[in-house]
Amino acid sequence: MTEKKEEIDRALKEKLAPKQFIKHPINGTKFTVLVSSAKGGVGKSTVAVNLAFALQNLGMKIGILDADVYGPSLPKLIKLNEKPKSENGKALIPLEKYNAQCMSMGFLVDEQTPMIWRGPMVISALKTMTQKVLWKDRDVIVIDMPPGTGDTQLTFAQEVKVDGAIIVSTPQDLALLDVKRGIQMFDKTGVKILGLIDNMSFFKGDDGKEYKIFGEGGVEKTAKEFNKNFLGKIPIHQDLREATDKGDPLTHSNPDHEVSKIFKNIAEKIKLAFQ
Ligand SMILES: Nc1ncnc2c1ncn2[C@@H]1O[C@H](COP(=O)(O)OP(=O)(O)O)[C@@H](O)[C@H]1O
Ligand SMILES: [Mg+2]
Repeated sequence: MTEKKEEIDRALKEKLAPKQFIKHPINGTKFTVLVSSAKGGVGKSTVAVNLAFALQNLGMKIGILDADVYGPSLPKLIKLNEKPKSENGKALIPLEKYNAQCMSMGFLVDEQTPMIWRGPMVISALKTMTQKVLWKDRDVIVIDMPPGTGDTQLTFAQEVKVDGAIIVSTPQDLALLDVKRGIQMFDKTGVKILGLIDNMSFFKGDDGKEYKIFGEGGVEKTAKEFNKNFLGKIPIHQDLREATDKGDPLTHSNPDHEVSKIFKNIAEKIKLAFQ
């Protein structure tokens, strides 16, 4: 009788204990960086891809993983729409463009097909993209995250070994509120925040004046408030938008552009954080 009770106690204890997650590394890369934002439309994908090529310009071998299962944008940003081949039906071979290895849900489904998946299916897709892609010989994989603090973020924070996260925001109060939530989520799940980037920080007119369209200094202030690094300010620039719309990111097509130089500066800080 007591034996039975002990057994039940033990079983109950096991059930109630907080779930232990195992963080699996992404194989085939030395470092893994998340580019995250708590809010959509702040330019996260633009920043992720341009930062990746800025790291490439510093001599790093890069991979880009688009983890936005519902709204993949990598196929458009680098103008690539092929189906990845699989190796013996189990693992996926990443596509290659501009010397970057790339993977996105957008390569696997039709562009017009809406993703109407529930959470568990998203998590299973993410596990495939993090565990079953044959990345090869990469120095760094930059991961473009979907907005928010939902299933994808939690899966990455709890089950994938990442070396750090970068949070992108616009200086608007509304966006900053979400940034604070994002910071807290990474802090709670033990993901190191490499720093914050202020995107669409200002617009430089033909008159040379800087117009602060979304406000000023908020991202830097938030970084200070939470004791995080502030990585830099990226202006609103037509060339940056046009380059990604054309499918050849500015830092790749024009590494000497004034905006590419800002990305270079941020990339140097990221590279330094790995050493
Ligand atoms: N600094 C910038 N200057 C000009 N356009 C930008 C800038 N950042 C982003 N964009 C544009 O804003 C839109 C949203 O950017 P995107 O990177 O898709 O955001 P997110 O991934 O956060 O949803 C895109 O059309 C993109 O080209
Ligand atoms: Mg995006």
